[in-house]
Formats: sequence, structure tokens, C-alpha cells
Amino acid sequence: MTDLYEQWREIRDILDRGRKATGHFAIASVDSDGVPNITPVGTVFLREDRTAFYFDQYTSALARNLDTNPRVCLMAVDRGTLFWFRSLLVGRFAAAPGVRLYGTAGTLRPATDLELAQVRRRVRPMRFLRGGRLLWSNFSHVRDITFTSSRLVRYPMMMAHLPQTDSVPFHDPEV
Ligand SMILES: Cc1cc2nc3c(=O)[nH]c(=O)nc-3n(C[C@H](O)[C@H](O)[C@H](O)COP(=O)(O)O)c2cc1C
Repeated sequence: MTDLYEQWREIRDILDRGRKATGHFAIASVDSDGVPNITPVGTVFLREDRTAFYFDQYTSALARNLDTNPRVCLMAVDRGTLFWFRSLLVGRFAAAPGVRLYGTAGTLRPATDLELAQVRRRVRPMRFLRGGRLLWSNFSHVRDITFTSSRLVRYPMMMAHLPQTDSVPFHDPEV
């Protein structure tokens, strides 16, 4: 139980670093013919129980794909200058530079007051700018994602000291 908790904490840390460095998560989905699509989504919020929600306001192919196939892969990569400078200087990554999470997205639902407060807090510094108001004043609906497994992004030479497990399934979503 502690291992799963610790593992999710490490994954969230990588995801947070990736989001802060790039401003978004990449969400991959497939259409009914199996054609892949990747959508940038900045408003993903991760919960303790290996689920997440994101504000689905502007997506088109992603929303369409989820109607026929709810399976998604979410990726974040830390391309922050400081992280890379430190890592290249010492010749190893202190933690993986990125991670993929695999899961299933839910249907569109109205956001709760708590979720609206969370997104307002995240975009607050930009809401005073004209574009910030245009983009982020009207968020109203979210989708949940339940994750079932994860895979680290590897850059082998600089990660030999880190665990070498590939795909990690999440067995107990209640923990
Ligand atoms: C950095 C970034 C973050 C974004 N975040 C969101 C978001 O949180 N929610 C949303 O609905 N659209 C968001 N968008 C807009 C969608 O990614 C955009 O409308 C995209 O073209 C939809 O792609 P799709 O056709 O693959 O769904 C974001 C765009 C960018 C560039």
C-alpha cells in the first residue's frame, strides 16, 4: 500500500514538473478507425486516488474520440531548463524526465464548485490579461480519468540508477 502511495506521489511529481515546464499535458486518443490524435490540455488536476479531471471546453477530436473509445494516454515531459542543466551537468536524471499514464475517460459533466475554484486558482495570475480572460473565464464542464497503469519516459544512459520496471499496473484504485 505504501509502495503504491509512494509510486503515485513520484508520478504526480513528474507530471507537475512537466506541466509547469510546458503548460500542458498531452492526451492521446484514437478514433473509431484507430487513427491516433494528441491534444494539449492544461487544466488536468490529479487526485490522490490515481484519478484526475480536466476541463473539457475547447477540444473537438478528443471529445469526439472519447464518445467511441474512452481510452486515453496522458503524457507530461519536464523540459525545464534548470532540470535539464542540472541533469546534464551531473550526467544523470534525479527522476525520470517524463511519464505516461494510461486510463479511461468519463463522460462530460458539470464541474463542481471545488473544481471551479481549483481551475480559477491555477489561471489566476493570467486572468488579468485580456487573453487570459478570453480563454479561462468560462470553464464549466469536466471529464474524469481513471488511470490503470503508468510508464516512465526513459533516456537510458542517464537513468541506469533508477528502477528499470517498464509498465506499472495500478491494482487498487481505492488506495
Ligand atoms: C497549452 C494549451 C492548453 C490547453 N488546455 C486546454 C484545456 O485545458 N481544456 C480545453 O478544453 N482546451 C484546451 N486547449 C485547447 C485545445 O487543445 C485545442 O482546442 C485543440 O485544438 C483541441 O484539439 P482536438 O481537436 O485534438 O481535441 C489548450 C491548448 C493549448 C495550446
